[in-house]
Amino acid sequence: MRFFVDTADVREIAYLAGVGVLDGVTTNPSLVAKTGRSIHDVIAEICQLVEGPVSAEVTATSFEDMVAQGERLAGIAANVAIKVPSTWDGFRACRTLCQHGRKVNVTLCFSANQALLAAQTGAAYISPFVGRLDDIGLDGVDVIREIRAIYDNDKSFKTKILASSIRTPLHVKRAAMAGADIATVPPAVLRNLAKHPLTDSGLEAFLADWEKAGQTIL
Ligand code: E4P
Repeated sequence: MRFFVDTADVREIAYLAGVGVLDGVTTNPSLVAKTGRSIHDVIAEICQLVEGPVSAEVTATSFEDMVAQGERLAGIAANVAIKVPSTWDGFRACRTLCQHGRKVNVTLCFSANQALLAAQTGAAYISPFVGRLDDIGLDGVDVIREIRAIYDNDKSFKTKILASSIRTPLHVKRAAMAGADIATVPPAVLRNLAKHPLTDSGLEAFLADWEKAGQTIL
């Protein structure tokens, strides 16, 4: 499973891209609004920081306006992926934008059937929202497992499962085990993936012993 980062914060993206753990970026209208900047400027800057796909979401709800907004966003940079919602107009827009050669990320997915429609309309990515399903008392990872089984049953589907609304390191591990191709992870959760108390205490003990030994490597 690969990692995208779920943020529009360019400083975080620049840092994580430098570490080399980023295969792409996802944004949504709430994340872009939080920056206080224009979507065109933010997406253009992010697209220069990462080579992989950068998802930018339409805010229109009709098919025609989604296609128009999607084309405008796609014009920002070659690595823009257009996000459309899992609605009937969204699936129509997905089909049309794919026919125009665009990469489409179908978002706000909460069921395997929505994922089936996304694959049939040519989406490059389907984004099942794990955390938001957990919020209403379901197990969001179950939907990833179902989508994996459905996609594996039809080898003509090329849509990648992009586990979204990831809130904890446990979500990351469970999404990977359930067969997600990618997880889009908020920066704070991504940093937590490296954390383990035994790593910290082990490192502290090694360094204390080394200091007592009085040796140097360089
Ligand atoms: C996905 O592309 C969305 O931006 C995101 O994962 C939503 O996460 P949230 O439910 O934590 O807002």
